[in-house]
Amino acid sequence: MDDMIDEVRRFHEQVTECADIMIEYSKYMMRLGLTLLELLSEALGLNSDHLKDMDCAEGLSLGHYYPACPEPELTLGTGDHADSGFTVLLQDNMGGLQTLHENQWVDVPPQPGALVVNIADLLQLITNDKFKSINHRVLTKNVGPRISVASFFRTHFREGVTSRVYGPIKELLSEENPPIYRHHN
Ligand code: OGA
Ligand code: NI
Repeated sequence: MDDMIDEVRRFHEQVTECADIMIEYSKYMMRLGLTLLELLSEALGLNSDHLKDMDCAEGLSLGHYYPACPEPELTLGTGDHADSGFTVLLQDNMGGLQTLHENQWVDVPPQPGALVVNIADLLQLITNDKFKSINHRVLTKNVGPRISVASFFRTHFREGVTSRVYGPIKELLSEENPPIYRHHN
């Protein structure tokens, strides 16, 4: 009975400590996300606050843990997809992440201390294809687990709640560069 009490205490103390770490990491990611939006705005020749003021990083959610897979050739950890907002990805040293480059799957090898930034659909839409949303996937392995932490930036914390309508940024359009996308809710 004493062991059980100790175990429950240990479990809850660990959970609390873990939640702190999560909150702290999220705060860093929020700051990094805003810095990235400033740099991306400047790269587009826009005022550095432009993308932030479009609420491109209003919300953030974190995810991911891939268990080892006994038959990795039968499945993919995460199939071919593009992200919706933009993503900052932290991966452990297991590898498996690939990105589609000129119709070929290319490994994105883990590098200690490095984060992967995915340009995603929203940025492609609002930049009228100046930035391209990148397709990627994760291969499973029979060793693991693989841990990755994807910080997904969203236009709004709860999906579907935003009433903001997104379309190509006017400053990026011209006669030679007409809007590819129509305004989209
Ligand atoms: C995703 C994703 C990659 C990874 O969750 O959208 O691409 O390495 N994750 O976990
Ligand atoms: Ni993804």
